[in-house]
Amino acid sequence: MFTIITGAQFGDEGKGKIVDLISGEYDLVVRFQGGDNAGHTVKVGEDVYKLHLIPSGFLLNSRVLIGPGTVMNPEVLAKEIDMLAEGGIELDANRVGVDSKTSIIMPYHIELDGLRESMRTEKIGTTKRGIGFAYIDKVARDEIRMGDLVNRERFIKRLGELAPSKEAAIKELGGDPSIVMDETLIDRYVKLGERFSSYITDVSYEVNRALDEDKNVLAEGAQGTHLDVIHGTQKFVTSSCTIAGSACANIGVGPTRVDDVLAIVKAYITRVGEGPLPTELFDDAGKQIQEVGGEFGTTTGRSRRCGWFDLPLLKKAIYLNGYTSIALTKLDVLSNLDPVKVCVAYEMDGNILDYPPEDTSALARCVPVYEDLPGWEGDLTGVREFADLPQEAKDYVIYLEDKMGVSVDYISVGPAREQTFKK
Ligand code: GDP
Ligand code: IMO
Ligand code: MG
Repeated sequence: MFTIITGAQFGDEGKGKIVDLISGEYDLVVRFQGGDNAGHTVKVGEDVYKLHLIPSGFLLNSRVLIGPGTVMNPEVLAKEIDMLAEGGIELDANRVGVDSKTSIIMPYHIELDGLRESMRTEKIGTTKRGIGFAYIDKVARDEIRMGDLVNRERFIKRLGELAPSKEAAIKELGGDPSIVMDETLIDRYVKLGERFSSYITDVSYEVNRALDEDKNVLAEGAQGTHLDVIHGTQKFVTSSCTIAGSACANIGVGPTRVDDVLAIVKAYITRVGEGPLPTELFDDAGKQIQEVGGEFGTTTGRSRRCGWFDLPLLKKAIYLNGYTSIALTKLDVLSNLDPVKVCVAYEMDGNILDYPPEDTSALARCVPVYEDLPGWEGDLTGVREFADLPQEAKDYVIYLEDKMGVSVDYISVGPAREQTFKK
């Protein structure tokens, strides 16, 4: 079985939590795009794991893989592995694999990301993890790959070849070019290469072999659909393809092998960074959602902007991903709000639209048309089955399911594993 999970909104839908929950059924869990711009929080008992790079499937003993379509900061990988080792979780080369073709995020990518962002008059609000600049180098064929990093000579040679253009780019943006060939930095990377040489693998081969042997593989998306570099709200997007089809291309597995595509959908919407968010709230309801939902970025600590559920954006996510089922998260956060609003269409330049306009500046002009649904009171975090939800909460789920036309299979009412049930 091959399942793809992606976020259906702007990221932080609760992907990490759902991947952790279902990963027991999977032999392999694979990250296929993005890098440590992602922040996935997994809560098990009293332990909370905040992960940026390592796929969230490791707790239930799946082997986890970092695919060639990702951009990988080896310092972050080392930090996460060390952090987990302190808690008694040993992620050696039997448990983690990194594709030989994975692009390495170098310190100059991080420097360039920060410099470029500070110069933009209209900001994107990147996570400053060097993601965009690492992807620029990937498509320009100027990247350092995992296969280079683990071989000292190859690494130094490749870095030397790339250094002049990196130094010039940093200089042009007013930064300090000496970081490119900094001795201590090079030394650190060489040591990381030595440390991770046994982790090298061929992800496409591993995944296809596993599927041939009737094993189960889960592709874990990062970010969210509307942050997709092609189909998202350009320019306010990340630099990778975040939608389900990208899992096949980035891992190297044919689309004919996909069995399920699971959407992670928050019961409202959030966004970190800049860009249009038609249903964004600036009132007490927005504040309540932000506080109750703990809507602060896992990676940057920034406040997440919050808004009511946006059906036009969700319909587009369904088209872009071809979802076969939905996990609806954070339903508990909407308690004690009355009414609960759902955006069913937009008004734009005197027209009513039930699907988002393709142009980002047009989306920014969209004014939501809402339907009001009755709210509910009380704490949902102790609910363990659908039948025990307040009637209005059940009606909200059924209403969304009906409008989306895709079945809601999981409902989540809190951050812990046990706070999720099948509908
Ligand atoms: P991801 O990036 O999609 O993996 O999501 P994040 O981990 O960045 O953000 C989701 C946050 O919501 C995390 O802090 C989770 O622990 C938390 N969370 C997940 N599901 C629920 C839920 O159903 N209810 C509540 N209250 N919190 C949840
Ligand atoms: P997870 O996997 C939410 C946003 C940034 C910024 C834009 C570009 O936790 O859902 P980048 O550093 O990628 O060049 O920034 O994308 N962004 C995310 N927003 N969740 C994420 O990941 C994100 N990763 C990037 O805030 O607006
Ligand atoms: Mg996140």
